[in-house]
Amino acid sequence: MSGTKEDTGMESGMNESGPVVILDFGSQYTQLIARRVREQHVYCEIHPCTKPLDEIWALRPPAVILSGGPASVYGEGAPTVDPALFERGVPVLGICYGMQLMCHLLGGKVERADEREYGPATISVERGEGLLLEMGGEDVDVWMSHGDRVASIPDGFEVSATSPNSPFAAVADPGRRFFGVQFHPEVGHTKRGADMLRAFLVNVVGAPANWTPENFATATIRKVKEQIGDANAICGLSGGVDSSVAAMLVHRAIGDRLTCVFVDNGLLRAGEAEEVVAMFRGRFDLKLIHVDARDEFLNALAGETDPERKRKIIGRVFIEVFDREARALGERGEEPTFLVQGTLYPDVIESVSFKGPSATIKSHHNVGGLPDHMKLKLCEPLRLLFKDEVREVGTAMGLPRDLLWRQPFPGPGLAIRCPGEVTRERLRILRDADVILDAEVRAAGLYESLWQSFCVLVPVRTVGVMGDERTYDYVIAIRAVTSSDGMTADWARLPYELLAKVSSRIINEVRGCNRVCYDISSKPPATIEWE
Ligand code: XMP
Repeated sequence: MSGTKEDTGMESGMNESGPVVILDFGSQYTQLIARRVREQHVYCEIHPCTKPLDEIWALRPPAVILSGGPASVYGEGAPTVDPALFERGVPVLGICYGMQLMCHLLGGKVERADEREYGPATISVERGEGLLLEMGGEDVDVWMSHGDRVASIPDGFEVSATSPNSPFAAVADPGRRFFGVQFHPEVGHTKRGADMLRAFLVNVVGAPANWTPENFATATIRKVKEQIGDANAICGLSGGVDSSVAAMLVHRAIGDRLTCVFVDNGLLRAGEAEEVVAMFRGRFDLKLIHVDARDEFLNALAGETDPERKRKIIGRVFIEVFDREARALGERGEEPTFLVQGTLYPDVIESVSFKGPSATIKSHHNVGGLPDHMKLKLCEPLRLLFKDEVREVGTAMGLPRDLLWRQPFPGPGLAIRCPGEVTRERLRILRDADVILDAEVRAAGLYESLWQSFCVLVPVRTVGVMGDERTYDYVIAIRAVTSSDGMTADWARLPYELLAKVSSRIINEVRGCNRVCYDISSKPPATIEWE
């Protein structure tokens, strides 16, 4: 869903001193650095390394962190920063490539290491300063991932730690408050990484530790009030974590001037529509329009079997329904000016990323762009947050754990778990099977440890026998995966007892299904959803 891009109103942080700025040189770990910094309750933002220096200083950062990256400082077109970065008196932490670049720019030397160091390593700490506060004389387990290494350090720098392959595993110029580490303190394998980042942020930088869910909520509600003023807002509420928390924040800010639209597209899991309405209208008193558009979606999908075209149809019909509801509000004199969206920080970073977007495998079109005539301005109260932070804010606002720890559910819903034509009868079989799997996975205490667990209706009928009768019914596939972000996934090693119970319950209780399979494909090369 998109509205006009100007004035999303959520850009500034909440600290008087501004965010710690993380300059991204393309490391796979950059977002992890940001999350680790925020776990110390210090607000930080990721910016591309190409951001002009005056714009960085305009943010008033108490410190700058240079991320790792795949390049070599001597490589052609290697990303760099304006050396004036080091003249401002602001503390700088360079991680891996960031450390090499800092040493390179300040007069040290970087060379190709004889042996790439990748994986666990142990550093010997010579000076317990900076990041390595109170670790003097100790051996510390860290995570390395580098080809180049620093060969000589700039004037003013000293060695803080060494490793067998890196004579300069950690370096420091404590006077200027510059610190460099060849290893990755942000990665879980660096066991005392959190202590190291805390030592830097708290002891060296003295950054304010006021990034808490409560502070975020208070500051955001205030900003939303300012942004929306006396106008009205509309929000497509799906019952997922992001739209729910976004709607709650905006509701606290403007009350009934927010209208939430919940569209039942006929592709939801059993009981979902009723739950969403009961919770938001009943318990939280949000102004909620419940649109029963089941027939509209299913009629539009009739006869369609192509996965991408199904997604497009669902996106298009959603826009039509949403637009109609917005117009109806206008006709009642409550015309919405703002569209509330649950955009998260990773999407924001991706769109300004230094690397550029990766190839699209599935269109993931929940909703396309809104029609031009709607001209809604965006209100994106979560655009500074990572997913785990959204859950914390949701908790602080009293949303139930059940909702906050829901597994992701795709916008096109059960349609992409029903390969081939989506019919009411196939959806009924899928839903009946899905309820059983869901209940059993929860009863086994595994729901929250799985990224997703769901059923797929395989559009193939096979022969079975029930009592003395021959049956000829559909196959249900169970899909259960573990993953940390949905980008890669492994099939979950569910206990046989659980699989046995689910299978026997589905075959016995679900009319129209006589066979259950377990999908043992990982992503890649398979995807999580079947379509
Ligand atoms: P795949 O199937 O690409 O899914 O491995 C990765 C994650 O994305 C979800 N998914 C979607 N979410 N609209 C969505 O909102 C879509 O069209 C869509 N397709 C896949 C999927 O559930 C998994 O979490």
